[in-house]
Amino acid sequence: MAQQRTTAAGGMESSYGFREVGEDEKQPLVDAVFHRVANRYDVMNDLMSGGLHRLWKDAMVAWLNPPRRPGWAVLDVAGGTGDVAFRIVEASHNQAAATVLDINGSMLAVGRERAKKRGLEESVDFVEANAEELPFPGESFDAYTIAFGIRNVPHIDAALAEAYRVLKPGGRFLCLEFSEVDMPLLDRVYEAWSFRAIPQIGRMVTGEAEPYAYLIESIRKFPNQANFADMIRRAGFDRVAWRDYSGGIAALHSGWKL
Ligand SMILES: C[S@@+](CC[C@H](N)C(=O)[O-])C[C@H]1O[C@@H](n2cnc3c(N)ncnc32)[C@H](O)[C@@H]1O
Repeated sequence: MAQQRTTAAGGMESSYGFREVGEDEKQPLVDAVFHRVANRYDVMNDLMSGGLHRLWKDAMVAWLNPPRRPGWAVLDVAGGTGDVAFRIVEASHNQAAATVLDINGSMLAVGRERAKKRGLEESVDFVEANAEELPFPGESFDAYTIAFGIRNVPHIDAALAEAYRVLKPGGRFLCLEFSEVDMPLLDRVYEAWSFRAIPQIGRMVTGEAEPYAYLIESIRKFPNQANFADMIRRAGFDRVAWRDYSGGIAALHSGWKL
């Protein structure tokens, strides 16, 4: 089952999980996955990670440490149903202005409903667009966040270049993503859970296993911590560092536009 990780950007644009596809085919396939799972996305996130995604996102927001001052703006790319943006706004005591950007209207529709329920419509905007071509002028945001999104974007280098462009000088880049586990025992348990249990849970909860098989396979194709850090540096970011969570199941990369 162990598959070769992608060592750098090369290969991700044409891999849909473990399947090789044409470069133009990946995005529509990814979009189909998220259209299918949007309504059950949040409940499946809890089931698939045993709730751990909440702790990892809290850790992301803690490292970001959003200031409690009006006018501070964050762009949460591949923001889906708004989880990270809501946490950032709440951590700033409702001072931050957040923009959730996602290519998928179904995920954003769920996000808009959730924002309404939390009373956050004033603080959070939703924009349907591609991470590879952000519809904002340069130097627009104080922070750029992306959680469990970048491995789904076909041209990761293009997304990183756009992140750099839209950040103000002094701006912060934070990326939370599944990564490489370097504890052999944990890796075996995690592999069994991922490849055997998660698609079955997906089938029971949503009636479909295939979208979840894709999500797991795409995790295994994504570059490991050190290789992804090199990609972030190549996009122009300084002081690139990362923190592992849960033995490397997830890693949080940080960089600065200086
Ligand atoms: C696993 S979800 C993550 C959602 C959210 N950030 C979270 O952590 O709960 C991945 C998201 O990436 C989005 N996505 C995929 N390709 C994208 C692209 N090229 N540009 C913007 N968003 C994209 C999907 O539509 C989906 O909502």
